Amino acid sequence: PPTAAFVVVANRLPVDRVTLPGGRTAWRTSPGGLVSALKPVLQRNEGAWIGWHGAPAEELEPFVDDGLELVPVPLTHSEVEEYYEGFSNGTLWPLYHDVVAPPEFHREWWEAYVRVNRRFAQRAADVAERGGVVWVQDYQLQLVPAMLREMRPDLRIGFFLHIPFPPTELFQQMPWRRQILEGLLGADLVGFQHQGASQNFVRLVRQRVGHKTHRDTVYLPDGRLVTAGSFPISIDAESFEKLARDPATEQRADEIREELGAPKHVLLGIDRLDYTKGLRQRLRAFGELLAEGSIDLDDAVFVQVATPSRERVDQYKVLRDDIDRLVGRINGDVGRIGRVPITYLHSSYPKAEMAALYRAADIMVVTPLRDGMNLVAKEYVACRYDDQGALVLSEFAGAADELKQAYRVNPYDINGMKATLLQAMESPDREKSRRMRSMRKYVSEHDIDRWAKSFLDRLAGSETHHDKHP
Ligand code: G6P
Repeated sequence: PPTAAFVVVANRLPVDRVTLPGGRTAWRTSPGGLVSALKPVLQRNEGAWIGWHGAPAEELEPFVDDGLELVPVPLTHSEVEEYYEGFSNGTLWPLYHDVVAPPEFHREWWEAYVRVNRRFAQRAADVAERGGVVWVQDYQLQLVPAMLREMRPDLRIGFFLHIPFPPTELFQQMPWRRQILEGLLGADLVGFQHQGASQNFVRLVRQRVGHKTHRDTVYLPDGRLVTAGSFPISIDAESFEKLARDPATEQRADEIREELGAPKHVLLGIDRLDYTKGLRQRLRAFGELLAEGSIDLDDAVFVQVATPSRERVDQYKVLRDDIDRLVGRINGDVGRIGRVPITYLHSSYPKAEMAALYRAADIMVVTPLRDGMNLVAKEYVACRYDDQGALVLSEFAGAADELKQAYRVNPYDINGMKATLLQAMESPDREKSRRMRSMRKYVSEHDIDRWAKSFLDRLAGSETHHDKHP
């Protein structure tokens, strides 16, 4: 493989190999916030990206795409089932998202997780130049830092968790809790979206592994130091704004509004089809507002884009059926000929179409039950260069800590959510633009470059050893 002084390791490469109907394969941008956030970072810092290319049982040579040096890691069919669908998305994902779905603990899944983490670590050890920096990403690869350190003690190793880190009481359920904490402690710097998450981690290390800690520093018995910290992630705000200002985008946004019947309010949701996103709750709230006549079908429509995700995992199949049924019921109950209240799109769209949707939407509805950050909320804000539009945002999304002028909701409180949706629809333009202006200023000042720089500067500058315990 090629070598690089800066290496990102993530479960997924920024491109995903998909099989089209008819059997041909093609490359597509990978789903999710991690890829959209990290791609510009790697494009601006020369380096290599190690990750899975999304197709099981296929070995590929390293290649270059969109200016990025990509190093594919293969997974077998059973590893996709046990490591990716199993331990990553059937155990860790629900456990770390406040058990909004019950996590399953299976020993075979864990064994596959260990095996695959070692493969990623080995790949990174092969690719990283002497004294280089390796930045490991997210919950699928929590064992990589310690494995990599064993193989390559010369490296600076950073780790960033894109999703929430659970409260200590929930983390304790994990049968392999100690191994996971020790895996993370292989990094010099462990980053989280939240201060609270970082504190939970340090507390667990003290209680469960028994290391000395002081504030955000862990003192290992061998003299090594590990720092924990919070680094709320962001987006490439400038590129979104530029796209939003493109006349072609504006034209497409007008078209979308026309096709929707030019209602007074277009409400929009864009999410991976995931049970953490609060889709049921938001659609119920909207449906009830229509059914009881608080809003008129002529005035408001909802567009819900749900990007297919982890479709072979049981919980996701159940969710898909539920949402299909719910949308069907609401459209059947309150729709009429020529007017469908919910336009439901089970599909993924290129960035330009997303920007047009953001431009077309009067109200962006982001209501996760739990979310590490939620970059859709920030993308919407970045696209509202006219300071118009309103963001309805769950208090359980990391983004709510930063986007304080959003219309906040508790997605579990359907009545509260209905009231807030109405409030957002009825707010005077002046009020909406006051809120949007201040959020936009925040997002443009705290963009992805600032995020990457603050993490990497801290990683480069942090002390790695200590002489004695505090
Ligand atoms: C979230 C996770 C990412 C993941 C993405 C898409 O953003 O934090 O690690 O890549 O979802 O999910 P998928 O399972 O399709 O990679």
